Amino acid sequence: MKNVTATTLRQMKGIGEKIACLTAYDASFAALLEGAGTEVLLVGDSLGMVLQGEPSTLSVTMDAMVYHTTCVARGTNRALLVADLPFLSYTNPDRALDNAGRLMAAGAKMVKLEGGSAPVLDTVYRLVQWGIPVCAHVGLQPQSVHKLGGYRVQGGEPDRASVILEEAQALEEAGAELLVLECVPVTLAQRITAALQIPVIGIGAGIYCDGQVLVLYDALGIVIGKRPRFSRDFMQGNSSIHEAITAFVREVKLGTFPGPDHSYGG
Ligand code: KIV
Repeated sequence: MKNVTATTLRQMKGIGEKIACLTAYDASFAALLEGAGTEVLLVGDSLGMVLQGEPSTLSVTMDAMVYHTTCVARGTNRALLVADLPFLSYTNPDRALDNAGRLMAAGAKMVKLEGGSAPVLDTVYRLVQWGIPVCAHVGLQPQSVHKLGGYRVQGGEPDRASVILEEAQALEEAGAELLVLECVPVTLAQRITAALQIPVIGIGAGIYCDGQVLVLYDALGIVIGKRPRFSRDFMQGNSSIHEAITAFVREVKLGTFPGPDHSYGG
């Protein structure tokens, strides 16, 4: 694998090669995931839930994100390392610039933030002006879980679907180079993926996205409580973590994951 950049991912979209992405929180897993062919490693604020045992991502601090980004960077050579800006760390462009700068200094090559409202668009624009590549995140935004009333599928109603499509287009215009699309119906994800030049990485967004991301612990079957419908335990039928991750990458590339059982209609 050559060094993966935003340009690489755009080229992959252009030729229809699917992008494999997983979350990573430490150096050992980063090296293993990269060795198994994962192109994008996301230091997700999901670490608040899967590492820290919190009920949501809201309590994750910048210090925690910087710490885990540093760890992942030490285990990463060629994969694109994307790090999440946590809840309320990007409430205005200046604050976002300071915090994104900390993640980049820790080894991130791109930062991710949630939402597509006007203030978020301003922030994306500012970060890009200062040379910080941005991954946007729309659909289900876990940092807005209380506003959304839970972890639910978004964009089932035509009005809401149009808003998500418009947000995605506006984020691309503001300079975002990658988009995570979470928990939306397959048909909406297909429309958004076709409408954008930048790659769209889905989670619970069906097969037509340009790539797929899973929370690593979900992909390894380490789930406390109810397994999210869109995830799959890749340890089933595989005898090592390396084999399981290789199977995830292979199924993403072949387009056999996610199947209808891991997707939403509407
Ligand atoms: O924090 C995270 O792990 C994420 C993924 C669910 C995309 O944002």
